[in-house]
Amino acid sequence: MVGIDFGKPLFTREEIQRKIQELGSRISTEYAEKDLLVVGVLKGALFFMSDLLRSLRISVRMDFIHCTSSSSKVGSPVTMLADMKEDIRGEHVLLVEDIMDSGVTIDYLKNMLQERGPESLKVCVLLDKPDRRKVQIEADYAGFRIPNKYVVGYGLDYKDRYRNLPYIAVMPYDEQEERR
Ligand code: IMP
Ligand code: MG
Repeated sequence: MVGIDFGKPLFTREEIQRKIQELGSRISTEYAEKDLLVVGVLKGALFFMSDLLRSLRISVRMDFIHCTSSSSKVGSPVTMLADMKEDIRGEHVLLVEDIMDSGVTIDYLKNMLQERGPESLKVCVLLDKPDRRKVQIEADYAGFRIPNKYVVGYGLDYKDRYRNLPYIAVMPYDEQEERR
């Protein structure tokens, strides 16, 4: 894709789909008797959310939150660009994100949603980078645990690009302008 050689994928599209089927079947079992509202965090969760929802064997509703996060910023780590439409009071809510890195974003969103009085609130992420955690938080459902590498594809971006790669790859180090 446009000049960058991403090398061998970290996770191929087949591996991603297999993992999503596993997650989907766990979620379907655990929410079998419940009415579930799945809330995706844009833009990163776009493809994951879309495939995860289609792997569920239960009836669900969906909504979205659009936010950007810069964990290093002073003050609020998360800027809300668009809030969700549904009222979640009394609802079983599953928040879906692409990756848990420092944990700051999910922690912020969880606290925000918790204040609205859901019946239950759980988190599902495709990727988990536990080495970089800054706040003590774990996802209830996590697809792959990955080392401290910057990854792109399948929704994950570098400067808003490469989200449309159908697999997940490590961003080549010499293509990164800023070192993290
Ligand atoms: P946090 O550090 O857990 O708050 O993660 C903040 C956001 O950074 C995530 O929702 C992702 O959008 C982004 N992010 C973290 N690690 C990566 C990565 O390796 N590739 C692409 N985006 C990432
Ligand atoms: Mg992002």
